[in-house]
Amino acid sequence: MVEKLKVGTLISGGGTNLQAIIDACNQGRIDAEIVFTGSDVDGAKGLERAQKAGIPTFVVAYARIIADCRKAQDIDRLLPKDFHLEDIAEKQRLVDLEKNREKGLFFIKSRVIAERRLLDHIESYDMDLLVLAGFMRVFTPYFIDRINTNAPGNKIMNIHPALLPSFPGIDGYGDTFRYGCKIGGCTVHFVDYGEDTGPIIGQKAFEIADGDTLEDVKAKGLEKEWELYPACIQKFAKSR
Ligand code: GRF
Repeated sequence: MVEKLKVGTLISGGGTNLQAIIDACNQGRIDAEIVFTGSDVDGAKGLERAQKAGIPTFVVAYARIIADCRKAQDIDRLLPKDFHLEDIAEKQRLVDLEKNREKGLFFIKSRVIAERRLLDHIESYDMDLLVLAGFMRVFTPYFIDRINTNAPGNKIMNIHPALLPSFPGIDGYGDTFRYGCKIGGCTVHFVDYGEDTGPIIGQKAFEIADGDTLEDVKAKGLEKEWELYPACIQKFAKSR
């Protein structure tokens, strides 16, 4: 019998991708099992989907943590002991520290503080792959390096609602639609130090008809995502 790939999942919202992965696991379409679902949003609807499937869940409330960081007299005191600013600042490609150092440093430090809490949960599970299923936060190298500990380094997968490298950022379908593209799509990729820049694992495309609304584009895209994500996870499971 093939040993199942142990998949950790992170979500922020409705969790329809998570549901597609749960179903693919349950139906034996992929050799994987989900070992946890975490979220940055308290009450994210996708958490209910996980709980219904008997998957352990946890929340690290980013919004609250970031607000607490803003109020803190000395944010550095909240940082984990193993945080090295020079190392992270050199590797990261999320903010322009030369343009606005203060703002950029707050971004990095507050995210690292939240990431440490995520890691505290994640490290209590045995996990082969971390799957971001509609998780709307970017990761600093602090987090990425602590997940990608053994070769091959690529252990974090993300799904993006556009055909990368076109339309990175938070609104892939919206940007595709507003540009007037006749083809849209979605991409599954490994996460690196940039935003939506890591190596591509798989893509699926769909046609955008003349009368299509943004809602139509999103609906067509999500249907493709639900096929693509389980297929990419299975590709990873098979390549072990
Ligand atoms: C998807 O479109 C995904 O590509 C994007 O966020 C959306 C999440 O949807 N990153 P769901 O929570 O899986 O339903």
